[in-house]
Amino acid sequence: MRLHKYMAMCGVASRRKSEALILEGKVELNGEIVTSLGTMYKEGDKVKVNGQLISLEKKSIYIMLNKPLDCVTTAKDQFNRKTVLDFIKDIDERLYPVGRLDYNTTGLLLLTNDGDLAHKITHPSTHMDKKYIAKINGTPNEKALSDFRKGLMIDGKLTSKAEIQLLKSGAQSLVEVVIHEGRNRQVRKMLEQIGHSVITLKRVAIGALEIGTLKLGEYRHLTTDEVEYLKQFEVQK
Ligand code: URA
Repeated sequence: MRLHKYMAMCGVASRRKSEALILEGKVELNGEIVTSLGTMYKEGDKVKVNGQLISLEKKSIYIMLNKPLDCVTTAKDQFNRKTVLDFIKDIDERLYPVGRLDYNTTGLLLLTNDGDLAHKITHPSTHMDKKYIAKINGTPNEKALSDFRKGLMIDGKLTSKAEIQLLKSGAQSLVEVVIHEGRNRQVRKMLEQIGHSVITLKRVAIGALEIGTLKLGEYRHLTTDEVEYLKQFEVQK
């Protein structure tokens, strides 16, 4: 199999990030640095990433965090801000966030060392539903709600259809939104587009996984059923 696929299966990073690691010269195959993306892995080969031997025998870990405000969804931050990993204690394996939430978005974030599963969940072809609750300025009218549902032009590209329900109306309203993609700041941009800026944004579900009663900054391991559920999604070629 391709080396970057093997790396993802070992939980090093997503396939795309594994490719980047190869290009950056951080990967050794049987003692030699390799930088070609076509490099193949076969059983018995010794692969090191950043000097560390990787293997398939690692235990896979799947975690759901209720991401608090004011932390970045990356493993490291160039400005030394808090990262979501700062909230995960007592786990030695290197975990990676699955997809992203903005610095000031809270809610359900998955973390895992299973790069293959992370790839499946974040791949655009998987169309996994993501549900958010947003507090917004003003109350959207029927036309705004209907425009939102049809999909909107953001950053020069039409989004797919989306769902929106008004939960509470007033000078500030609450809406429940479901999107099927994961474009950068998509919910904020779509709500902005129909004339309602976002005050707070929280992700409450990814597919059938729900944040439930987890408090901000708390996390839990996924159940076996939840992991099986996520594994059934397939990337479309
Ligand atoms: N959409 C956004 O605008 N922000 C997030 O953090 C997630 C989805």
